Amino acid sequence: MAAVGIDGIDLTDTAFWAWPLPDRAAAFALLREQQRPQFYAEPEFPFVERGPGYYALVRYADVDEASRHPDVFCSGQGATSVVDLPTEFNEYFGSMINIDDPRHARLRRIVSRAFSPRMIAKFEADVRRAATAIVDDLLATGPCDFVQHVAARLPLKIICDMMGIPDDQYQMVLANTNIILAGSDPEFVSEDPGEMLTQTLAAGQALAELVTGLAAARAQAPAEDLVSALATANIDGEQLTSAELASFFVLLVVAGNETTRNALSHALMLLTEFPEQRALLLAEPDRLDARLESAVEEVVRYASPVMFMRRTLTRDYSMNGQDYAEGDKVLLFYYSANRDQEVFADPERFDITRSPNPHLGFGGAGPHFCLGAHLARRELTVMLRELLTRVPGITAGEPDRLLSSFINGIKHLPCQF
Ligand code: HEM
Repeated sequence: MAAVGIDGIDLTDTAFWAWPLPDRAAAFALLREQQRPQFYAEPEFPFVERGPGYYALVRYADVDEASRHPDVFCSGQGATSVVDLPTEFNEYFGSMINIDDPRHARLRRIVSRAFSPRMIAKFEADVRRAATAIVDDLLATGPCDFVQHVAARLPLKIICDMMGIPDDQYQMVLANTNIILAGSDPEFVSEDPGEMLTQTLAAGQALAELVTGLAAARAQAPAEDLVSALATANIDGEQLTSAELASFFVLLVVAGNETTRNALSHALMLLTEFPEQRALLLAEPDRLDARLESAVEEVVRYASPVMFMRRTLTRDYSMNGQDYAEGDKVLLFYYSANRDQEVFADPERFDITRSPNPHLGFGGAGPHFCLGAHLARRELTVMLRELLTRVPGITAGEPDRLLSSFINGIKHLPCQF
């Protein structure tokens, strides 16, 4: 990395995302030192005219301000891709994440009610039971791929249970969410862009069909699950259309699966790399819960499992010395904002006692702030408590990383104990 200057950093180039993690962090540190956000060309994408390019927002102040002004920095033209994707894509995969007010507010209002305290309390018991069973199995299996045997299992089980998806469909759900957030990784999708597009659409369709079938069954015979809560009209008579329901569930299984899993894998890597932080975490059993709470926030800051979201300018706007024009695209790099030394002292230090820790790992303050943040925090806390108390000597080997600019993913992670 030492030899690479600012011109050697191209965030659009897939190769950049394969750089070793310390080099990637150093590149973003260099980007943050620049007076202005860098402007990059967009990648080529099949069947889509090449767009004008985008600004990379890498400083905390920029990412924070853009998140707080959704009227200026809108999500409706696509939040998860630099390229303006065909409408069918946003329909299947985007749901509320790719929509602005007033449609977004309506959708969020309806689905938030299904994340009621009663539902969350029910998940808490499920999370505990699932984490215990996963660690039982881990102890019986011995050293293995931590992603497959631990990290992927908990979020998959919880999101499927919440939605009432039967156990025999878990692997199908995981296979399809892996395809949807595969980035450019040849383990999951073809290297031919046209074929990749077909695979991704097929994965979205398979998930949409699964939930449409479940919703039809629950409309007849409601059960204690999220599909039932959303497939039937709520007290104010507000209801999702069947297309909205299908697309929301595609978002939910993808967002619920592909993020918490990576946070868990990064947690094991970080606790291996910083053994003194693990010792501190476990030093006083009566303070374990409080320390875990702040450790989880630090894992999400450090790992930033979702590395960026996109916004598009609805009008000309000036922010922190840079003028933007209507139609400009900006990428909000949470990964970089979470390492901004203006806000986080010694940002490359993993510090489970960091306080305050106003990280943007779940998005900035604004209407799109992660709907599953509370659930993700519970899953991470419960799993880490179970794992570290019952398998205190567990350590991570070399990670096999996902090739993606969007998800800071770990595909495989050998663990020893
Ligand atoms: C560590 C785990 C997670 C991370 C790092 C994460 C991160 C994010 C981020 C960065 C956003 C976008 C915020 C924005 O555009 O301003 C988001 C939105 C969202 N997340 Fe999460 N997430 C996680 C877990 C979950 C879980 C477990 C669920 C589901 C149960 C979930 C469901 C959603 C949904 C539905 C949205 C869209 C909200 C909206 O547009 O209003 N996330 N998440």
